[in-house]
Amino acid sequence: MQLDRILHSQGFGSRKEVRALVRHGLVSVAGEICENPFAEFEPENLVFTVDGEEWRYHAQAYVMLHKPSGYEVSQKPKHHRSVFELLADPLRVRGIQAVGRLDEDTTGLLILTDDGQLIHRLSSPKHKVPKRYAVTLKHPVNEELTQALLAGVVLHDDPEPVAAAAVEPSGEYELTLTITSGKYHQVKRMIAAAGNRVEALHRTAVGGLALPADLPAGEWRWISGTDLERLRSV
Ligand code: URA
Repeated sequence: MQLDRILHSQGFGSRKEVRALVRHGLVSVAGEICENPFAEFEPENLVFTVDGEEWRYHAQAYVMLHKPSGYEVSQKPKHHRSVFELLADPLRVRGIQAVGRLDEDTTGLLILTDDGQLIHRLSSPKHKVPKRYAVTLKHPVNEELTQALLAGVVLHDDPEPVAAAAVEPSGEYELTLTITSGKYHQVKRMIAAAGNRVEALHRTAVGGLALPADLPAGEWRWISGTDLERLRSV
C-alpha cells in the first residue's frame, strides 16, 4: 500500500496533509526517513514514526481506556471534558467510537474501536455481554440486597424486572455486580430500586476483557492478542 494511503487510514490527516508530512521528512519507516509519499509498503505490522512518535499499523483500531471520573463519554460533552481528549489524535481522526457509555462519575474499563460490527455485537442486548462493576454503596451490603438484585428489580421505564447475572459482596459497603444488559444508569437504578445507593462505580471487565491493573486512570492502550480474540468471539 502507498505510504500516503497508510498514513491516511491510520488517522494522520487527509491524503494531501499526509503527503506534506512525508515530503517534509517527518515520517520514518523501519528506522529510515521516507520522503516519497507514494513508496509502497506492506501495511500489516508496519512500524513507522510520525514526527518522532512510533506507531504500528492497525487495519482496525481496538483500544481500552481506563476512564477517570469527571469525563463524559461523548464527542460533544455538555458539562465536563470528553474522554476522546484522552486518546491520541489519530485515533479520533480515524473515527473511533466508544462501546456503550459510562456515566461522568463512573471509572474503569471503556472499549473504543472503529469496528462497527464489534460495537454492534458488544452493545446488542441479544448477545448478553457481561459487564462487571465494583460498586461502593451508601449503606452496608446485606442478604436482602443481594437477593433482590439476583431476583430482579423493576426500573421506572420498564415493567420487566432486571436481574443481575452475578452479585458478590466484597466488603461491608462493596459488592461486585455483573449485568448483561446496558440500560441507562442501570447499575445505579438497580441498586436504588433494591433500597441502597451507589456512592462509587468502577467497571472492571467487559466480556472476557478485564481492566489491566497496570493501566492508570486516564491512560489507554491497544487491545491485542488473546484479549482481542476473546472480545471478538463474543
Ligand atoms: N450503570 C450505571 O448506573 N452507570 C454507569 O456508568 C454504568 C452502568
